[in-house]
Amino acid sequence: MIVAGVMSGTSADGINVALVRVSSGRTKNGPTFQLLGHAEYPYPRDVRRAVLAAMNAGQASVADLARLNFLLGELYADAVLAAQRKFRRQVELIGCHGQTIYHQGEAARFLGRKIAVTWQTGEGAVLAARVGVPVVSDFRPADMAAGGKGAPLVPFLDYLLYRDTRVGRIVQNIGGIGNLSAVPRAASPEQVTAFDTGPGNMVIDALMDRLFHKPFDRDGKIAAGGMVLESVLAETLRAAYFRAQPPKTAGREEFGREFAAWFLRRCGRAPKPDVLATATALTARSIADAVRRYVLPRGKFQEFIVAGGGAKNPTLMAMLANELGTLGLKLRSSEEFGLPAEAKEAVAFALLAYQTWNHRPSNVPSATGARRPAMLGKISYV
Ligand SMILES: Nc1ncnc2c1ncn2[C@@H]1O[C@H](COP(=O)(O)OP(=O)(O)O)[C@@H](O)[C@H]1O
Ligand SMILES: [Mg+2]
Repeated sequence: MIVAGVMSGTSADGINVALVRVSSGRTKNGPTFQLLGHAEYPYPRDVRRAVLAAMNAGQASVADLARLNFLLGELYADAVLAAQRKFRRQVELIGCHGQTIYHQGEAARFLGRKIAVTWQTGEGAVLAARVGVPVVSDFRPADMAAGGKGAPLVPFLDYLLYRDTRVGRIVQNIGGIGNLSAVPRAASPEQVTAFDTGPGNMVIDALMDRLFHKPFDRDGKIAAGGMVLESVLAETLRAAYFRAQPPKTAGREEFGREFAAWFLRRCGRAPKPDVLATATALTARSIADAVRRYVLPRGKFQEFIVAGGGAKNPTLMAMLANELGTLGLKLRSSEEFGLPAEAKEAVAFALLAYQTWNHRPSNVPSATGARRPAMLGKISYV
């Protein structure tokens, strides 16, 4: 079956579409798959602004949120149709993550009840109607209803891709947020752990917007020209999030605009490139710290694989390689395993959709904290 995976992450940079051939496979280890093509469709500038404004907004118009839901359904459809033309393939099913506008994985009191909540927008019914195939969307709530944090969901793919009988692997995605999956040598699915390490590109992007009116630090050029403000870095790393035991999830709620504004104040009058260098070091150091504190004590790991847009930032990657060298981990790229760094999450949602379509669960309870396996998502038929 050919399945399109559609991902739009917290960076709100745009839409990633992966066309994937999936089959059930003979082993109990889950489906087998082959990537047929991947393409990226940036959001128009004003759409990106609207999405960023809606995320974790203190105030938002209900009408605008409803409009955004249907608008994104149309844009996702345009992206899938364009990918179909580009790769000359017809898909039979779509898995669409949608755009997270709010995520609170930890239960908290609300009107007398303790609840965890999440909201992904982008109307599946519109996408199904435009492309003419069924759509699985809204993957996270089923895991949360089963007591999980609704994230991360990519460990399902990490397990399929990176499980090895001899090598223990840590798989790091650097999107808006950084998250890792640890797949021990010869692991069973219950032995996979995963959590969000902290900021990925989110703080870097926010500061680039504030200081340079650019969406991101292309090729890490600005950060490369700055010096890391060690005292600011050390102070920032003392924040509660970094000290909390996994499982834990983060988003714009933790590392969005307010965090970036606080971070900028801490940097005082430092030159702008130093601010960017320090934000970049924050991502690298928080990842290495998380590995040292929460992963390495649980087993032996030899390899560290990086995916996500952050893998395209050489300054960040050099800092990370430096940190990991001291931990005895070999840095490898997602490309070496046949998956472009920016395609991985989209591929994951194609596989999750395939599981749901076949009435199979796809959360990894040891990663999300759910009490049981859950079939994820809601289906929009044509
Ligand atoms: N060439 C590049 N140089 C530096 N950073 C890049 C480059 N390409 C992508 N990025 C970073 O990756 C981010 C997008 O990563 P992505 O994996 O799509 O995140 P998300 O899943 O949150 O959308 C961009 O916002 C940018 O910060
Ligand atoms: Mg993206």
